[in-house]
This record gives sequence, structure tokens and C-alpha cells, in this order.
Amino acid sequence: VAQAATDLSIQQEFARTFAGSLALQRQARGVIAGGINHDGRHVKPFPPYIARADGAHKWDVDGNRLLDYVMGHGSLLLGHNDPDILAAMRDQLGLGTHYGACHEGEVRWAEAISRLVPSAERVKITGTGTEATLLAMRVARAATGKPTILKFEGHFHGWQDYALKGEKPPFDASTSPGVLEQVLATVAVVPANDPGALEARLAEGDVAAVIMEPSGGSWAMIPLADGFLAATRDLASRYGALLIFDEVITGFRWAAGGAQARFGVLPDLTTMAKIVAGGMPGGAVAGRAEVMEVLEFRDDPVWNATRKVRHQGTYNANPLAAAAGVACLDKIADGGHQERAEQLAVRLRGGFNTALERRGLPGFAWGESSVFHVALGLSCSNRTAGDLRSPEGVSAAQLKASPSSRENGLLYPGLLLEGVELFSGGGMVSVAHTEDHIDETISAFDRVLGRIEAEGAFAG
Ligand SMILES: Cc1ncc(COP(=O)(O)O)c(C=O)c1O
Repeated sequence: VAQAATDLSIQQEFARTFAGSLALQRQARGVIAGGINHDGRHVKPFPPYIARADGAHKWDVDGNRLLDYVMGHGSLLLGHNDPDILAAMRDQLGLGTHYGACHEGEVRWAEAISRLVPSAERVKITGTGTEATLLAMRVARAATGKPTILKFEGHFHGWQDYALKGEKPPFDASTSPGVLEQVLATVAVVPANDPGALEARLAEGDVAAVIMEPSGGSWAMIPLADGFLAATRDLASRYGALLIFDEVITGFRWAAGGAQARFGVLPDLTTMAKIVAGGMPGGAVAGRAEVMEVLEFRDDPVWNATRKVRHQGTYNANPLAAAAGVACLDKIADGGHQERAEQLAVRLRGGFNTALERRGLPGFAWGESSVFHVALGLSCSNRTAGDLRSPEGVSAAQLKASPSSRENGLLYPGLLLEGVELFSGGGMVSVAHTEDHIDETISAFDRVLGRIEAEGAFAG
């Protein structure tokens, strides 16, 4: 990407540098509803259109090289085109991509999940993370005979009907047209980090399961207070509710065994996607055998007709995803890749905060494991020139809304002009990133801060 031409604003220069993407976005709007196929790709002024990717980089249709912190929406802990995953997929391509049948690969895949994830006695493969949370909720309702799913403000569990309530601020009004009131009535939302509110709602006795991102909402954007995970485990058990960890992001990233391995708190059910399928579409629900047994057929027509939870899906455990998943999980099993990516993310978060401190600008970078978030224009009381896990003095709603601030809105195109792509106000670090990449990113961030300040966009 060409160096910033200082006489142009970020927006003006962006339209010029990414002209091919702008043309494609205009065409897309004529044929794809809203021009995008994932609400997360609704970025201003328009999204870059990518032509290829390798390692830590993507190249767009204009030939701009971008250091990638989207990393397949968090699927690519090993970076783009990991040679072992590609080799496994190539081998499988010659053997067929869809048997519409049981096959050895799905057994190896489920075994790999069960080996790594401490609470995964039984596994069920799904097509996506959204399907995984939908199935886990159905399993929980069937296993307990209770109707309500309890979730936390700001926690994201995919786009299915039961997951949307309380996801975005204002948390008490967050849903989507098209979701029935009757459905919303079966979902309860409480703030995270408030054991009293959780207990009060559980005490009503109708909760089948508590579902949560064990990192805190939106991959550690809204951090959990120390001890809250364990408190939630205890309270769920005490009131006869199951605990579901949604490890779609944290799975295989927070540790080889996910957040549950890292924190030593075990859920009854776990939902997974992304890294589990090595960059291919795929997800899974796993859990205790006695809970997962509601998915079994029995030689009992009454059980099958009335007690068995139904589950289908054309693409479940397709051989190509299974091959990628097995290769990925085998490679990341010893925990070294997770530690490496985390070291890099610590360096990045610290470097961003150092730049903000030096310039005396409002904002902070934070996160956990190998993910990071940046909130420009917002102040927390505990920023230093180093890493930050949990910003203080800022509400969950403020943190969750931070990617859409005016300053963050300029950071995204500003960094793209420097050849760096963020994801939803932050990003995911992979082992394909290097110290040099991180340091380049910090320098680029510093220059873009200067540019945003010069455009008079900082709220102060
Ligand atoms: C925590 C969490 N749960 C569920 C999902 C939904 O997964 P998918 O996009 O594969 O449907 C996501 C997606 O980002 C997620 O981050």
C-alpha cells in the first residue's frame, strides 16, 4: 500500500487506493442483498475485496498487500495456507468431497476434539458455530425439560433466533425484526459479572442452560471478573441448569483445550467452530455423555419419537472439513502455537497502549490470549504503556459499542492504507505473524493516530 498522501483525507485516499474494491462493492450491491454476506463485513467506507491470501497476508484486487488480523474470523490460528492442512485437504480432494455417509475422517475428528477438550466425552459435528449453539440449546432444553436459556449481556452466540437477545447495546432492546416475541420470551438476559443477578434469575427455576463466552462477551471485549466463571459454574449446578461454554472463538486458542482448560472450569456442553475445522466450514457440540445421550437413537420407538433430539445437516462432518480439522487439531495439540500467538498479541496490545500514552490520546487496547481490541476516543482508568486485560471505569455497553466510534471508524481505513487489516475494532493474531509484523503494525498504528488527530476526529 502506498504511503499516505498527506494532502488527502483518509476517506479520500482510501477511495483512490482501493478503487477496484469500490467497483466490486458497487456491483455487489446490485446482486447481493446489502452488498455483503456477513454483517461483520459492513465496514466504512467499503470493504476491501480479497484476491488471495498466504501466511499472515492477504492481497486485494488492486494488488495491495494487507497484514491480516481477521484471520478467517478467527479460524486461522496457523495462518493462511498452512502446509499440513493443505496437504490433508489435497489428499482428501482425490478421494471425494462429499460421501453423504459415515466415514473414518469424522471419527478421527471427534476423537481429536475429545482428546483436547476436557469436558468433551461425546461430540456431534455441525456445519457452523451458529448451528452448534442452536443444537446445544435444544439439547439442554431436552435434557432438563426446562424452557429458558439464560445468556449474558453482550455475549455473541451466532445469528440464530435464541442468540440475538441482549447481544448489542442497548442490551434490553437488542434483537432483530423477524424474531418472534414468543421466542424472545424463552431467553433471559442478565449482566455478566453480577452473581446476584444470575442467582436471582436462576432461582425462578425455569432455566435449562446458562450459555456464555468463557472469555467474556465478544472474545474478551467485555472481560469477566476474576472468579465469575467458577461462580457461574456453581450457581448453574445449584439451580439444576446446564452450563454451556461457547468456545467458538476460545476453543483451541485460549489453550489447546480451550478456555475450559486454561481456567480449569468445566461446562456441561461446549460449542465450537472456526479453529476446530482448520479454516473449512464446520462446528461441533460436545459434552458429558449423559447429557449428549438425548441425541441417540434407541431401539425404542417411544424414545425415538418423543425423547430423541433431532439433528440433521447436509454438510455435517463432510470429508474435506474433517481432513482440515484433524490436521489442524493434531498440529495445535501441544499448546505451543497458542503460547506463541499470545506472546505476539501481548506485544501488540502493549505497543498500541504505548503509542496512545505517548501521544496523550484517549483510547486503549486490551484483550486476552491471542486476540486484541482497540477503543479510540474512550478512556479507562487503568491504561498504562503496557498490556491490558480488563479496562476499568468503562461499561460493558461502552466496550461493546467501541468498534463503531468515530475514531475507530477512521482507524480501520487508515490502517488499511498502511497495509494492515483489523477485524471488528481489533483482531486475531496467528503463528504466521512475526515480531516484525507486530512492530510494523504498532508503527502504522502510531502514524494513523497522528492522522486521525490531524483530521480533528478525536473526541478528547
Ligand atoms: C462466540 C461465538 N459463537 C458463535 C458464533 C457463530 O459461529 P458461525 O459464524 O460459525 O455461525 C461466533 C462467530 O463469530 C462466535 O464468535
